[in-house]
Amino acid sequence: MCGIVCYAGKAQCSPLIFEALRQLEYRGYDSAGMAVQGPDGVAVVRSQGKLEKLAQALSGHPLPGTVGIGHTRWATHGKPSELNAHPHVVDGIAVVHNGIFENHLELRRDLMSSGAVFSSETDTEILAHLVSRALSTTGSLKEALRAALHEVRGSYAVAVLGRSEPGRVFIAKNASPLVVGLTEGATFAASDVPAILKHTNRMVFLEEGELGVIDESGLSLETLDGQTVRREPKIISWSPVQAEKEGFKHFMLKEIHQQPRVIEDTIRGRVSVETGQVAAEHIGVDETAAKRIRRVVLLGCGTSYHAALVGKYWIEALAQVPAEVELASEYRARKPLVDPNDLIVAVSQSGETVDTLEAVKVARAGSAHILAIANVLDSAIPRAADGALYTHAGPEIGVASTKCFTAQLAALFLLAVFLGRRRGTLGAEKAMELLGGLLEIPALMRIVLGQEEGIAAIAKRYASSKDFLFLGRTLSYPIALEGALKLKEISYIHAEGYPAGEMKHGPIALIDENLPVVVVAPHDESFDRILGNIEEVRARGGKVICLSTVGAPGIDRLCDEKIDLPSSLSELSPLLSVLPLQLLAYHVADFKGTDIDQPRNLAKTVTVE
Ligand code: M6R
Repeated sequence: MCGIVCYAGKAQCSPLIFEALRQLEYRGYDSAGMAVQGPDGVAVVRSQGKLEKLAQALSGHPLPGTVGIGHTRWATHGKPSELNAHPHVVDGIAVVHNGIFENHLELRRDLMSSGAVFSSETDTEILAHLVSRALSTTGSLKEALRAALHEVRGSYAVAVLGRSEPGRVFIAKNASPLVVGLTEGATFAASDVPAILKHTNRMVFLEEGELGVIDESGLSLETLDGQTVRREPKIISWSPVQAEKEGFKHFMLKEIHQQPRVIEDTIRGRVSVETGQVAAEHIGVDETAAKRIRRVVLLGCGTSYHAALVGKYWIEALAQVPAEVELASEYRARKPLVDPNDLIVAVSQSGETVDTLEAVKVARAGSAHILAIANVLDSAIPRAADGALYTHAGPEIGVASTKCFTAQLAALFLLAVFLGRRRGTLGAEKAMELLGGLLEIPALMRIVLGQEEGIAAIAKRYASSKDFLFLGRTLSYPIALEGALKLKEISYIHAEGYPAGEMKHGPIALIDENLPVVVVAPHDESFDRILGNIEEVRARGGKVICLSTVGAPGIDRLCDEKIDLPSSLSELSPLLSVLPLQLLAYHVADFKGTDIDQPRNLAKTVTVE
């Protein structure tokens, strides 16, 4: 996830900005840079890689000056490289940006047709060009930034400085955090509190659609429409470690709560509800290729495998093509038959998991089209594939994957709609309904996350159990698997996930009054049958923890514990039903006092055999 730091004051700012960027390292990044207003205008230094690289570059090219902006970049548009690192400078105007400009392609085309020359592949550089173009008419950097921001669509936190206005940094925010830190004789701004907490605890948090100017005397703030904003600073009492976690006790909990934003970011700019289309031309599957597909093979490990299982349902239902899911470690170990008319989809959060990478190499021998769904731009698996559909979850720090799972689900749903439309198996009207439903998911997720307190209370009641069983049918079966995996990983409690229909073929023997059974039972086509499974559990004394759609008939009386899911399109229920299971696992583990963010024996990225 990108980080922004700005300083306007009397001290030499380059070391201050550098140290503040260091405080953001925990967020993950692949390149970094800094721009300072110096005696000869705006000077910039950038580098690919860790901050040590930037330090080396700065020792060769020091940046004297007392006003500057710095950035750590987590690539989303354009590979990690020095040229794509921020700040981007056009005509002495330097820009750093967190977020995504949805309409960057059309703006880039427009700017290029009027002579703009781009030096990077990023969406951010368009803002530098837009500000530069507007400056020639507005004459003021603040007004130029305002005009430019009216042209972009999407999420942003931006900071801009220019040689024409020494001593000042212009900042703006929409759906991406930005905070200003006030001190005597200097003002900081940053994307995250920890970056500047060492210097001040007096902070002003910008709100959506606000534009500010910082200088050595403080902050002046207004809305994008020009209304003055007066906001008293808040006194932040977080310790530096609490600040990294934005006040949450663990990174995992913070990441669970980030999911509504992550889904917004992953679908942003890719769906048109008006036409029922998904923009994914870059994956290299045109209409002819889509119609030629005879089979989709999805590959993944762990949580990514569970996402792939959900993807299979969606692809078969919407694109009307058989889909198979394989554990990458098994797939690579045999000699799978790959047909040129297969579409291979490798799902991996890190993009570096060795089993998935090797499975892709095995599939490569069959000359099928290979698509990666990954969270890390330009990582090994997308590089080995023919195309990539990136999730925009930002770096996931907790070892147990949460936000990357739901981001993968969103990407797989987009893929299923995309293939369905291209193959002609999904009509515009149904696609419009599905994409409309997807757009509602972030708000519904917020409702589910609002039940955390109740889920924590349930977790406490069952935290001493030795085993758990998780059940679900159809789309909820992979969610049962994922719920069991989350609980195992971080609480070290033995847990099994099963398709509920399989229970009578074996697992039912486990059930007694000591076994909590978590049933994922949204009110969908399988609902009546899963009610039957719940009865079977109750008849044997098992304790039933149910997740079901609010108001679903006949279920409440069967449950020892009930967690409500808001009503949604039933196709999309996995995006909601997994959240209580993440929270349940988290709170059981927290109650037991395990090392939640770094559970024993597990690595975040499994790059060993
Ligand atoms: O980076 P990947 O998505 O390829 O990782 C796959 C698994 O190693 C990963 O999902 C693992 O199961 C996590 N610990 C799940 O929480």
